Amino acid sequence: MTVPQPDLQPARSPGAQDRGPLVLALPKGRILKAVTPLLDQAGMAPSPDCLGDNSRKLRFPTQNPMLDVVRVRSFDVATFVASGGAHIGICGADVLMEFDYPEIYAPLDLGIGGCRVSVAQPASLPHDPQEWARWSEVRVATKYPAITRRFFAARGINANIVHLHGAMELAPMLGLSRLIVDLVDTGSTLRANGLREVETITHITSRLIVNRTALKTRPEEIGALINGFRNALEASP
Ligand code: PRP
Ligand code: MG
Repeated sequence: MTVPQPDLQPARSPGAQDRGPLVLALPKGRILKAVTPLLDQAGMAPSPDCLGDNSRKLRFPTQNPMLDVVRVRSFDVATFVASGGAHIGICGADVLMEFDYPEIYAPLDLGIGGCRVSVAQPASLPHDPQEWARWSEVRVATKYPAITRRFFAARGINANIVHLHGAMELAPMLGLSRLIVDLVDTGSTLRANGLREVETITHITSRLIVNRTALKTRPEEIGALINGFRNALEASP
């Protein structure tokens, strides 16, 4: 007697379409504006509502039917990519320095969003590196606790961190801290709040980042995206 066999479909490896579009995480704000020409050049331009301020949507299709864009906070780009929720992303080197996620591979410096992570203090106070040498601790407001602790520890100073997520320029004038550590681009935010830059910790630019597991499971598609960015960079003036 023959046992009925289940109706098996021939085995086949899942194709790209079966797994849906790849997800590119982009940071809101100035990096998003700076990266737009590169996305256009690479054939990955997101739908126009992604760049406007009117839409409350967070996920957008792009010119490439196999690529969607999500718009998140710059620190969260790294979290989305490290967790695999987004396959690739663009974020500042400051974010990578702060978190140091082992799941993230950063193959390309995009050369955009150039700025620096710096220490600033009230413009009215003197800055004397000799005086820093006498400090054992200092209170610092920042969204970069790890970078800040490392910078001051290398100078023998214990940084007591006031962890803020924005507007840290207010901290010295409101008595929360003596110093701040933040991004400086034009310096106008510091000036507008009575502060001045006293030490540059590091210069940074934006990086293309990739989830390492995604790179192994969808190598052709992700490799094509990385090449798309590389070619767009070479073609840009
Ligand atoms: C960033 C940064 C500084 C400012 C520096 O803030 O935190 O405040 O830009 O730029 P500038 O030197 O050209 O003035 P952003 O406006 O991105 O907002 P956030 O701090 O709320 O994230
Ligand atoms: Mg700010």
